Amino acid sequence: MAFNFFGRIKPLDAILATAEKKALTRSLGPIQLTLLGVGAIIGTGIFVLTSEAAQKAGPGMMWSFVIAGLVCAVAALCYSELASMVPVSGSAYTYTYAVMGELLAWMVGWALILEYAVAASAVSVGWSGYFVGLLANAGITLPTALTIGGYAPGGFINLPALLIALLVTMLLMIGTSESAKVNAVLVAIKVTALTIFIILTIPMMQGQNFDPFLPNGWFGESRGFGAVGAAASIFFAYVGFDAVSTAAEETKNPQRNVPIGLIGSLAICTVFYLLVAAGAIGTVGAQPIVDAAGNVLAPGSTEFATQCQALLSAGHEPLVCSHEALAFVLRTIGYPAFGNAIGIAAFLALPSVILIMLFGQTRIFFVMARDGLLPEKLATIHPKWKTPHIVTAITGVAVSVFAAFLPVGKLADISNSGTLFAFLMVALAVLILRKTDPGRHRPFRTPLVWIVAPLAIIGCLGLFYNLPFEAKMVLPIWGGIGLFLYYAYGYRKSHVGRGSIEVHEVDADAPPQPVPPIKD
Ligand code: ALA
Repeated sequence: MAFNFFGRIKPLDAILATAEKKALTRSLGPIQLTLLGVGAIIGTGIFVLTSEAAQKAGPGMMWSFVIAGLVCAVAALCYSELASMVPVSGSAYTYTYAVMGELLAWMVGWALILEYAVAASAVSVGWSGYFVGLLANAGITLPTALTIGGYAPGGFINLPALLIALLVTMLLMIGTSESAKVNAVLVAIKVTALTIFIILTIPMMQGQNFDPFLPNGWFGESRGFGAVGAAASIFFAYVGFDAVSTAAEETKNPQRNVPIGLIGSLAICTVFYLLVAAGAIGTVGAQPIVDAAGNVLAPGSTEFATQCQALLSAGHEPLVCSHEALAFVLRTIGYPAFGNAIGIAAFLALPSVILIMLFGQTRIFFVMARDGLLPEKLATIHPKWKTPHIVTAITGVAVSVFAAFLPVGKLADISNSGTLFAFLMVALAVLILRKTDPGRHRPFRTPLVWIVAPLAIIGCLGLFYNLPFEAKMVLPIWGGIGLFLYYAYGYRKSHVGRGSIEVHEVDADAPPQPVPPIKD
């Protein structure tokens, strides 16, 4: 018996039967899984949002990386249990459907849409920062009005961000997917870039750059600042690790290898992030900038952008103002060629993170439409490309528009609000299922589940609470729209609601195209 609030659950056995029919070959080992995780994780978070974290927390952003990493680690242990038990697509959405019923599953799926689409926008803006910086260093300066959204003085539209999001959308529409080989090459590029950064910066660190260590304290004067506020934002840097959980079905010995992949990729990224943050802080300093009255300015605000432009005109650019944090650090400490090289690494590797996010979004849409909660027409497969082209195009246009006009930090914060909600529901689902279905086979069991899962729940709530106000508000507003749509459409059309719980034979869990295992 599963616990549900609203009477409609999708029986776990039906979900598992679907997975069995799909019967994927178990070929992935712990190393491939870890590579998969690292490929999805490293992106705009470390390459770009380091500046933002510095503005919020100063050198104390090192604590922010630790706090966000710990919340992800306990969430990862919960994901591992469900992923090994229910190894099918749409993970957080599917688990919730089986455990807490259709309404909450709809809300989780709806929040995941927010997470993926807005994350794709955020990574597009991050890519644009590096692209514009590379061009500027080659002597080509694009007009401000075309490289930054209207929130900054002189800005209007971030054209490179818009174009990269559209380009990736087109690639997805015609059926491009990232092979394991391409992923391995891109992981190597990213890891090499970060390693070079660490090797060049760590020997040049100066102790005084770490002082004061927590200029805005732990919580800051207003929500969203201080080391914990920065943790809520820099959480974005870890998003993607759950890519590993969705590959459970294709993994050899999943009870051992899925947790290794999840925790291993998180641990590797945490070590890199801490060393990179230390190198950036220790060489160029990471103190926040303040207004004339001494108030810390909010990154992404017009006041912040104005102050940065004033500092730049005076010949002083602090780390917190840079749109290409890591390249900026290397150029500032006298390694312009390496600065450009790291810019090229970001230029090459970030589009694959956009692709993973956009792909995840379309897959969630697809699974929800297949369950009858969204119009099935949306998930129509193109006859030649064999992709859900309609939903991909709609998503891609929305992602491009957001990327064109909003700052990267705000987008990351909004994406985080959706992700934190999904993680919280996964931790809750693990606990509920332990009570309601204790006898079911669990290939991997979350260790100390009555401590770890509540810690994940508290961690997600704590980070959510420390997000900036607007980012927090997006979730209930988006949720309200979702609720309206659910009752206007999904409630009536739901396959489970109509009594049909089909076990799909073909394209059980994904659009019919070769798919990389990705996060859901
Ligand atoms: N973790 C991914 C990034 O930082 C989403 O770009």
